Amino acid sequence: METNADNSILDIQNLNIEKIKKWNDEYYNNKGKRRKFYCLTMGCQMNAHDSEKIIGMLSRMGYDKTESEQDADFIIYNTCCVRENAEEKVFGKLGVLKHLKKSNPELIIALCGCMMQEDFVIEKIKKSYRYTDIIFGTFNFHKLPELLLSRIETGSQIMDIWKEHGEIAEDTDYIREFPYRASVNIMYGCNNFCTYCIVPYVRGRERSREKSDIINEVKKLVSDGVKEITLLGQNVNSYGKNLKEPVSFAQLLREVNKIDGLERIRFMTSHPKDLSDELIYAMRDCEKVCNYLHLPFQSGSSRILEKMNRRYTKEKYLSLIEKIRKEIPDIMISTDIIVGFPQETDEDFEETLDVVRKAGFSTAFTFIYSKRIGTPAAVMEGQVDDKTAHRRFDRLLEVLNDGIRRVQEPKIGKVYDVLVEKISSQEGTVSGRSTDNTLIHFNGGKELIGTTVPVKILENKTFYLIGERI
Ligand code: 5AD
Ligand code: SF4
Repeated sequence: METNADNSILDIQNLNIEKIKKWNDEYYNNKGKRRKFYCLTMGCQMNAHDSEKIIGMLSRMGYDKTESEQDADFIIYNTCCVRENAEEKVFGKLGVLKHLKKSNPELIIALCGCMMQEDFVIEKIKKSYRYTDIIFGTFNFHKLPELLLSRIETGSQIMDIWKEHGEIAEDTDYIREFPYRASVNIMYGCNNFCTYCIVPYVRGRERSREKSDIINEVKKLVSDGVKEITLLGQNVNSYGKNLKEPVSFAQLLREVNKIDGLERIRFMTSHPKDLSDELIYAMRDCEKVCNYLHLPFQSGSSRILEKMNRRYTKEKYLSLIEKIRKEIPDIMISTDIIVGFPQETDEDFEETLDVVRKAGFSTAFTFIYSKRIGTPAAVMEGQVDDKTAHRRFDRLLEVLNDGIRRVQEPKIGKVYDVLVEKISSQEGTVSGRSTDNTLIHFNGGKELIGTTVPVKILENKTFYLIGERI
């Protein structure tokens, strides 16, 4: 049974954690200070959440956290491979670590995450970065204590990359970045194979967690003081399809909505092709589900969308947005956009601008197409040159920012409930988000962090709003 398998995964993990804790406690008794870890997280919320679990394990193993690599005894990079520049950054930083390791031979360097699932990366590490100590991928990060113990005991490089997922380790013992906000994985992997995207190759096929495991985790978080949760998956709209007893994402939302004490529910990411009417109605009916939706459209050209294997057209995307707005009129919608996909012409790009003008996005994540080895788009003819891609990118930002400013403008004078996240850089002000995910700065002190307060909007700064407490 799956539960037993989960238990044994965690039993082994606990045993190894204990052993390393002993090793770290001895160090503390001898030296009067604790060994420290430094964790760098790149990429998406999924990676950020994996890092919370990694940090949880490291803390239980008796390490203290440090924000300085120079200070660290254990350095871990949780990497991303969605775009090339993130990968280049990792290799650049590894070069610097070589010097650090020379001055501190005890330093242990670990690499994990999506990049490690790529064969050419592993080859490069084997050839040019032999001083890295522990290398693992996306499917087995629960094994970190075991791998670290092997490294400590043998002194040699430990590489453990799985090509496929094993059991889902039901480990909820992680350290959250914020006390009042948490992410919960509802599914792993992706089956869509958009032609530009490396994710299906490095995070495997879709698999959903059992509804009861998700509900229990959310309940535990709420009893721990969490007010806002984000349900995470590469494509949440196809949640539950592969479970023994299939559940839809809409049904899951309605169940999570019933949990007492929880204030806000967010989720990401949604694929437009799978966004059902059932989900729109669930979003409309569930008072805790935030009036915000992240709905990547990638390109406005139906011709390019087909080459991207997105399985919707420009018209379908725009009519979907219209349908959502009809049911939830004040919803804010954000998106992801790629420019410079192979064979994209100026006319195709105009279609993208047309969607931006018509859809009224509140924010957008914009990317220049980045060739990923192993994906179908990487070998397509008609790769767009850098100069053209950058020109389109700059134009896109102009049109986008103008649109965002217009979307935020009518909020001036209105009152929004803001869940306060942190102190802002400007003295005497704090910042937080309304349920529609807009960043709002207003007057207040740190005692407000984690509380929800009504704020009247005074000024529109496009990417954030300025308000005052009422
Ligand atoms: N090049 C540029 N952007 C990409 N994305 C995914 N793969 C690529 C790529 N090869 C973007 C998509 C996706 C977001 C997470 O990253 O817009 O929605
Ligand atoms: Fe990549 Fe497409 Fe899957 Fe998103 S839905 S992770 S873009 S393949």
